[in-house]
Amino acid sequence: MKIVVIGGTGLIGSKLVARLWERGHEPVPASPGTGVNTITGEGLNAALAGAQVVVDVANSPSFEDQAVLDFFQASGRNLLAAEQKAGVRHHVALSVVGTERLQQSGYFRGKLAQEQLIKASPIPYTIVHATQFFEFLGGIAQSGAQGQGQGQGVRLSSAYIQPIASDDVAEAMADAALAEPVNGTVEIAGPERVRMADLVARYLKATGDDRPVQADPGALYFGTPLNDRSLVPGENARLGAIGFEEWFARRAS
Ligand SMILES: NC(=O)c1ccc[n+]([C@@H]2O[C@H](COP(=O)([O-])OP(=O)(O)OC[C@H]3O[C@@H](n4cnc5c(N)ncnc54)[C@H](OP(=O)(O)O)[C@@H]3O)[C@@H](O)[C@H]2O)c1
Repeated sequence: MKIVVIGGTGLIGSKLVARLWERGHEPVPASPGTGVNTITGEGLNAALAGAQVVVDVANSPSFEDQAVLDFFQASGRNLLAAEQKAGVRHHVALSVVGTERLQQSGYFRGKLAQEQLIKASPIPYTIVHATQFFEFLGGIAQSGAQGQGQGQGVRLSSAYIQPIASDDVAEAMADAALAEPVNGTVEIAGPERVRMADLVARYLKATGDDRPVQADPGALYFGTPLNDRSLVPGENARLGAIGFEEWFARRAS
């Protein structure tokens, strides 16, 4: 089966393309790097010709509030219109657990706009909500860095998170792409629920970074306040097998 992976050269996309090949399908990695651009429309119709399934794991090149909203709106509109013309039967997209609860953040307003376009389109769909990737822990640490030159430690929320390895995300996305559309949202998460500041402290220590991490219940997460429920999934989430220690060991090797 021909499956177009929008963002197929990115972190999740490249792992997903490899898994779909292994399972005997014909994945097409589609991104500006392969001549397919969902913003300009370049290469889109040709890439979608004959595709039954499209998986969208693209991300905005800029995380600035307006830029991210513009990206997900334009990309979603262009992509879903091209899919309708091509007769695509299943649209699968990757979004974030708690998106609807995190609307004080420009990034999550962009993700919600992406989801709303999918739900309004006639194409059958599956939205996969994932928690934060372990690969994003460095980005979270960076977002809480204090002081010029970031030498004054890291201040982060003490809210719970339940991060997941990108390998487990790619596996779940492959399963979703090969299953029937659910016309709804499914959740995936990692095996452990931990406090954000505690996990980032473990991560920094493991990478030899000796900056202290201050846990602050009032610290914003990319512009939005958190509580202990904000970033964690409901009880029916599919859980990945890879925990922090295993992920870190694999990464180091
Ligand atoms: N980070 C997290 O913790 C987390 C958690 C849950 C969900 N997510 C979601 O996971 C998704 C994938 O994240 P990722 O970290 O794998 O992303 P990534 O590594 O940054 O890759 C982004 C991909 O998007 C492509 N892209 C950018 N502009 C494009 C355009 N105009 N047309 C087509 N493709 C375009 C890039 O192509 P080029 O390389 O050619 O530019 C690249 O392949 C995102 O939607 C994100 O919201 C992330």
